[in-house]
Amino acid sequence: MTAAETGRKIAAMDGPTSPCASALTTLPAGAYSDEDGFRAEMQAIFARRWVLAGFSHDLAAPGDARPIAVAGAPVLLVRGEDGALRAFHNVCRHRAARLVAAPCAKARAIVCPYHGWTYGLDGALRAAPQWRAEDGTAPAGFDAADHGLIAVAAAEWGGMIFVRLAEDGPDFAAHIRPLAEHWAPYRLDLLRAGGEMSFEIPANWKLAVENFIDTYHLPFIHRQLGTMRQAMQVEDVTMGGDAGSGPVYGYRYPRGSAEKPKSGQPFASFPDLPAELMPGQDIVGLFPNALFELMPDYLLVFHLEPLAPNRTRERLVFFYLGEDATDPALADRRAEAAEAWRIINEQDMTILAELQAGIASPAAARPQPDPPFFDRPLSAFRQAVAKALAEN
Ligand code: FES
Ligand SMILES: [Fe+2]
Repeated sequence: MTAAETGRKIAAMDGPTSPCASALTTLPAGAYSDEDGFRAEMQAIFARRWVLAGFSHDLAAPGDARPIAVAGAPVLLVRGEDGALRAFHNVCRHRAARLVAAPCAKARAIVCPYHGWTYGLDGALRAAPQWRAEDGTAPAGFDAADHGLIAVAAAEWGGMIFVRLAEDGPDFAAHIRPLAEHWAPYRLDLLRAGGEMSFEIPANWKLAVENFIDTYHLPFIHRQLGTMRQAMQVEDVTMGGDAGSGPVYGYRYPRGSAEKPKSGQPFASFPDLPAELMPGQDIVGLFPNALFELMPDYLLVFHLEPLAPNRTRERLVFFYLGEDATDPALADRRAEAAEAWRIINEQDMTILAELQAGIASPAAARPQPDPPFFDRPLSAFRQAVAKALAEN
């Protein structure tokens, strides 16, 4: 069965909002390990949908440029002289050489390394050396205005950069609407990046998502985070996925870490946060490759970049409120938080390697339905994967 056929079969099952949907929504074991399935997901999901592609602070100043890959395609992020963030296919309009291979700063133009075609930071073709229709070195009727860099849809939100490789699709406002509404009480505009770390996960990107929204494993893999009773004090916040919106799946701990062991001292909290949200903690994913932990005093963003069926790059960025992100007096406190999260991530790496090793076995018995208590966010995520494959 092809990935699209499997997707259609799963998508035809009850949706994640149906009360009896959960036990049905699984993906076959091969979806987590084979090359064909991986390629199909790159095309159906990462090449077509809004995806998390980086962070605003990667391109803080005008002239900053950063090459990235989206579904294997080279894309260039550029901070223009006007301060706007733009994305282009990182491909010369002449003979398709890749334009920029490494991050750069203070660029005033983008110059192709092959024959020197030169583009403005806005993508316009500004110069093509020895390229003139008059002496036959350019085709007759060549118009530079038709040969600027090909734009990729891009948007910044909450210090993050999202891109959509496909020319057509929902606008970003529609994609982010469920999460933006859910987090409306939080002044995300006050957050500043205050540290980061990267991991190479030895597992399929979908296992990383599923593990992130799995509360069941917490007392086994992360004993320092408390008991099963504490792990299960969650409210489901799964939503979205209609009319172009990105599905959001996960949990809120209404009492947050109030009843859990502390992993460091608090930072300044979001201003004017309603009292009922003060102890809260959200653990959610935004389809397909963004994962978040939102606390009253910081936001963690986990950016997943699938590299192969069994390998995923994870970049974890810590955001704090205002000067808490950079204040030297809080360096120890930030280091303490970072160390707590480094340990949590390394614990997850270990079990993700075991999951990947097991899932590639012919004995892997997906679909094993998860019990309803734990299943709705997992189900919503898997449904989104299956729907995207079916629609492709
Ligand atoms: S390929 Fe870029 S100038 Fe020729
Ligand atoms: Fe975990």
